[in-house]
Amino acid sequence: MAHLTAPDIAAMVPQARALLINSLPGYKSAMLVGTCDAAGKENLAMVSSHFHLGSSPPLLAMILRPSTGESERHTLHNLLETRCWSLNGFSLDHAEQAHQTSAPYPKDQSEFDACGFDSEWLDEFGAPFIKGSPLQIGCLLREHHPLEINGTHMIIGEVQHLKYPVTAQRGDGGLSLSDMGLVAVVGLDTYTQPHAGLRFAPADTTSPPRQF
Ligand SMILES: Cc1cc2nc3c(=O)[nH]c(=O)nc-3n(C[C@H](O)[C@H](O)[C@H](O)COP(=O)(O)O)c2cc1C
Repeated sequence: MAHLTAPDIAAMVPQARALLINSLPGYKSAMLVGTCDAAGKENLAMVSSHFHLGSSPPLLAMILRPSTGESERHTLHNLLETRCWSLNGFSLDHAEQAHQTSAPYPKDQSEFDACGFDSEWLDEFGAPFIKGSPLQIGCLLREHHPLEINGTHMIIGEVQHLKYPVTAQRGDGGLSLSDMGLVAVVGLDTYTQPHAGLRFAPADTTSPPRQF
């Protein structure tokens, strides 16, 4: 087993350290974030830092990096301007195109066009979705927290629109992401499609684990 301590990690070449540390949270949801600016210019970007904050109200959050002298962050800029964004799941067949949205395209270049996705709009919602995406979530900005520790931004959104194939919903309400063919990502480069896995009833202290 490798055993690194904090000074070893600090001494690593920055690129290698970024790849190593990015792998540590394990398999994450990869979703494409659709936004537009106040002038209606569309933008699409790969984001994997999504997390569930609560179900009532339905809240999803993500961490966005700040703009720096070298790179602008169009997603952050746009959603602070319009207060809404879309989250779009994708399957492994679209991983190549989806990954390409992480390239630093200039603001006047839409990643929808550059990476071969068609946009789709819903009435009265101010951000574009990916046409044909198996999971489309429209979020409204509820809270924005710049994080002191490293200058990243925690963005909290409330779900306003939710679209998915009816056949992917189980009787208990949950979605079968494997039926929808959604991918997960490891680090910044490895896309994978998980299998259905094992499902268990809620755990309690008085009975043994029960598999569905
Ligand atoms: C697999 C993967 C996951 C990523 N996750 C995030 C993330 O959670 N937050 C973030 O700010 N950038 C993330 N990025 C980087 C953005 O995709 C990249 O900075 C992109 O150029 C941002 O586009 P924008 O300027 O149009 O917003 C990720 C990139 C990859 C390849």
